[in-house]
Amino acid sequence: MPDTIWLDGRYLPASRAQVPVTTHAIHYGTCAFEGIRAYWDGSNLHVFRLGDHMARLMRSCSMYGMRPRFTAARMGEAVVGTIRRKRLKGPTYARPFCFVGDHGISLHVDGRARVRSAVMAFPMGRIFPEGGISARIVSRRKIPEEAVPVQAKMAGNYLNSIAATAEARAAGADEAILLDSRGMVSEAPGENIFVVRRGTASTPPIAASALDGITRDTVLELAAGAGIPCAVEDLPRSSLAMADEVFLTGTAAEITPVTRIDGRRVGSGRPGPVTRRMASLYDDAVHGRGAAREGWLTAVYP
Ligand SMILES: Cc1ncc(COP(=O)(O)O)c(C=O)c1O
Repeated sequence: MPDTIWLDGRYLPASRAQVPVTTHAIHYGTCAFEGIRAYWDGSNLHVFRLGDHMARLMRSCSMYGMRPRFTAARMGEAVVGTIRRKRLKGPTYARPFCFVGDHGISLHVDGRARVRSAVMAFPMGRIFPEGGISARIVSRRKIPEEAVPVQAKMAGNYLNSIAATAEARAAGADEAILLDSRGMVSEAPGENIFVVRRGTASTPPIAASALDGITRDTVLELAAGAGIPCAVEDLPRSSLAMADEVFLTGTAAEITPVTRIDGRRVGSGRPGPVTRRMASLYDDAVHGRGAAREGWLTAVYP
């Protein structure tokens, strides 16, 4: 069925996968979600790091006391099942989410709140050009851990990303870069950031309000295997002006070079050697080429 959506344990046509307007998540953003990609390797479609995404989804729920009816394993099966029913065979994006359903207008969410679960999936190629994008360091700051649990990937948090993106686009840039409440580099609205200087790729720690990204983790692991020096460290704003290369990492954005920041060229103004090498290692990993990592690829078709 080309328009299948999985909702609360059942595969439904999209027209029947509906929720009432009283749904708590619509009013308050009480929805934990994931973005996952699947890639065609020539003979099968493979979901990348499905188990890690499902574990993060469950962690996000638990940080808000939400108790989904379905386990991580069952939600993972729903991701695979939805993609399979839609017969997707090219680059695919899947969006599993768990949200508070009818719960009145109460701000007290605990284990008694009704949590509903859904999965949608659709074809999605690159969202940013391989040749690089421009970025703007926006005035909006990344929401701090003091305000909300930043590592819970909740729909409500994304108003911060939406406001930052609007500011970047209004300034003519493709993407925003957010600083944390201290003024250190945090991340982009939906991506982690790496800054390369003298051959070392550095990324901010999660203490800088950056999401513990699965692509970021993949890059750190692939770089370690390839002997590319990496560091997880606080990066002042000026590190962006001094960078030889900057790239973003995320499930949706994959490895995206940033070639201009605030109207100025980054390094040569073209994707640099470390960025290109990381993009190539990442492309190999998601397509099952090179050293296969245990548990990273889940086949969709039998
Ligand atoms: C705010 C934010 N940072 C970073 C990322 C990158 O995370 P991942 O690599 O797990 O997709 C995402 C995407 O989920 C995000 O929304």
